[in-house]
Amino acid sequence: MEDKLKKIAQWVVTSKKLIVFSGAGLSTESGIPDFRSPGGVWDRYDPEDFNFQNFLASETSREKYWQMATEMYESIKPAQPNLAHLAIAELEKLGKLDCAITQNIDGLHFKAGNSEEKVLQLHGTAIFVSCLSCKKRYDRDEIQERIKKGQKAPRCDNCGGLLKPATISFGQSMPEKETQEAYHRSSLCDLFMVIGSSLVVQPAAAMPLVAKRNGARLVIINRDPTPYDDMADLVIHGQAGPTMAIILEHVKKGLGIRD
Ligand code: APR
Repeated sequence: MEDKLKKIAQWVVTSKKLIVFSGAGLSTESGIPDFRSPGGVWDRYDPEDFNFQNFLASETSREKYWQMATEMYESIKPAQPNLAHLAIAELEKLGKLDCAITQNIDGLHFKAGNSEEKVLQLHGTAIFVSCLSCKKRYDRDEIQERIKKGQKAPRCDNCGGLLKPATISFGQSMPEKETQEAYHRSSLCDLFMVIGSSLVVQPAAAMPLVAKRNGARLVIINRDPTPYDDMADLVIHGQAGPTMAIILEHVKKGLGIRD
């Protein structure tokens, strides 16, 4: 294992364009359940109930959606970055990170210290709420207060439109700018590192393929096997936090940085 981690660190040290691609597995050590592991979100809720068309279709579906979203937010709000988030932020400080492409809605990359311009949020964010009609943006806590006071599916003060966490639900259009930029940067990178994703949700899961097809090295750090393990240059089946902490140590040694 140690040799594998040293090899990944060496690839990071020599890389000119490193992309980190993160999924929910990056944040489980911060207390936020992922989606497809035992006890994960889709173990407790049927994803079919939460697609965008359902949200638009009825007040009952919206109330159910907000109930699930409120439960998820209760684990997101107090969560703190773990060793893996902190390592990714450190890679940015060391000038080694081209960008982080994330499927995560928890905002922990920013809490760890990554800058806005270096993080592409493909599935939006749970930290804000927006009106689907006038696009007015609300702070999430303000809307959660209304829910606590009994509103089951809040409406916009401005236009009466439907309010929804600024996340991308199944069946909802992907954020165009972020998606285009993620594809573009994936096609130009020389090292693509997946951390904590099952790589089953499109179009996000196409990014490692784009990188590999354009000649990049592909590294996968994930507790469980993924459909892309065979095409990866190196696979680590382990916990993201301790794995990234060790890789960072070797990167610093490789860059001649003494702590
Ligand atoms: N360290 C490493 N890997 C981990 C850890 C950990 N601490 N904890 C969980 N994992 C792995 C699991 O083995 C699993 O393969 O992370 C992966 C998480 O996969 P998913 O739950 O499918 O999450 P993700 O890939 O981000 O899902 C993609 O699906 O439901 C939608 O919009 C949602 O963005 C999400 C998308």
